[in-house]
Amino acid sequence: MPQISTLVSVLAVLPLILAQGSPPSLPAKGENGEIGGIFGMGQMRAPPKLGGPGLTAQGPEFPKPGPRTTNGGSGPYKAAFSLDPSLLNHTIYAPKAAPPASVKLPVLVFGNGGCMNTGTMFEDFLTEIASYGYLVIANGPPGRNSSTSGSGATNPLAGLMSAMGAGQSRPIQLTQSVDWVTKGGPDVTKYGNVDTAHIAAAGQSCGGLEAYSASYHDDRIKLTILFNSGVIAEEKTYLLKELKAPVGYFLGGPLDIAYPNGERDYPLLPAGLPAMKASLDTGHMGTYGSTGGGKFGKAAVAFLEWQFRGDARAKAKFTDPASEGSLVKDNWNVTTKGF
Ligand SMILES: *[C@@H]1O[C@H](CO)[C@@H](O)[C@H](O)[C@H]1NC(C)=O
Ligand SMILES: *[C@@H]1O[C@H](CO)[C@@H](O)[C@H](O)[C@H]1NC(C)=O
Ligand SMILES: *[C@@H]1O[C@H](CO)[C@@H](O)[C@H](O)[C@H]1NC(C)=O
Repeated sequence: MPQISTLVSVLAVLPLILAQGSPPSLPAKGENGEIGGIFGMGQMRAPPKLGGPGLTAQGPEFPKPGPRTTNGGSGPYKAAFSLDPSLLNHTIYAPKAAPPASVKLPVLVFGNGGCMNTGTMFEDFLTEIASYGYLVIANGPPGRNSSTSGSGATNPLAGLMSAMGAGQSRPIQLTQSVDWVTKGGPDVTKYGNVDTAHIAAAGQSCGGLEAYSASYHDDRIKLTILFNSGVIAEEKTYLLKELKAPVGYFLGGPLDIAYPNGERDYPLLPAGLPAMKASLDTGHMGTYGSTGGGKFGKAAVAFLEWQFRGDARAKAKFTDPASEGSLVKDNWNVTTKGF
């Protein structure tokens, strides 16, 4: 009986075929209890390579300490952070006075560098975004009681220093922020008209991995933005194929320890998924700790205005190097696809 012997030999090698050929299974959710979630570091197979560019390597675009020239952000609504009694493990950046009801505030949920559980690590940067009429919710309660932006000199590494010892967050905290805004958490008299149809998940470095994990299989999130970030554990890049919403990367050039990761992820996104990748020679720490978050602040606002408000001039900053205020004129490398 030749058929049976064929069957038997196929069955005999089946486990081998399965072990070698089948893709790893897809988890249902992005939260798995690990730092950064399913896109996180995973099991370290080998000790991390040392001797490459460090966390604080600084390119020519890394800012110098200097005076602050804005207070509350450069946008139309002066903004500040606060702790909301109905969301105590987070820090909320919003206009100080609710904008008119005609203004809908898109939402940005944010994971900090190092996945630190302190919501004031990126104060200048997130205040700048909020001042354009956004509700920004960072993981972790405030690390201090009131805003320090607007006073004193900027220190580009202050955020990093202030986050030491804060403990680490989990991607579920980004999901908790999305739950809060979509289930009527924000008081309309305090924040204004929150636009739950336009929610982005974003983060810097380890926080970018949290943003990937929170966006995974959550169709409420319409945009994912990674700052100085990308998958570290290469065996997890297959998860990128599950992303359904546009993705933006802001990297810090070849001195950025995460630059090769973001560069690798961009072409691995699903075919046809709109994406943008920009890179500025700062190193891993970007320009977040300078006035308004510096060039990263300006670029992040333009990306959000393009994506969530359909602003044609903001779009041109990415797609037309000759346009007014284009990222290329600010020394960014920029590439887009699928838009
Ligand atoms: C904020 O102020 C309160 C009361 O003065 C104090 O107990 C608390 O430690 C302060 N929190 C921070 C983060 O500085
Ligand atoms: C706040 O977040 C931290 C870090 O994820 C967690 O350990 C802690 O349990 C959270 N606290 C509350 C009240 O949820
Ligand atoms: C921009 O692209 C050029 C050419 O690939 C590369 O040499 C340079 O390092 C890039 N700069 C940044 C900041 O990524």
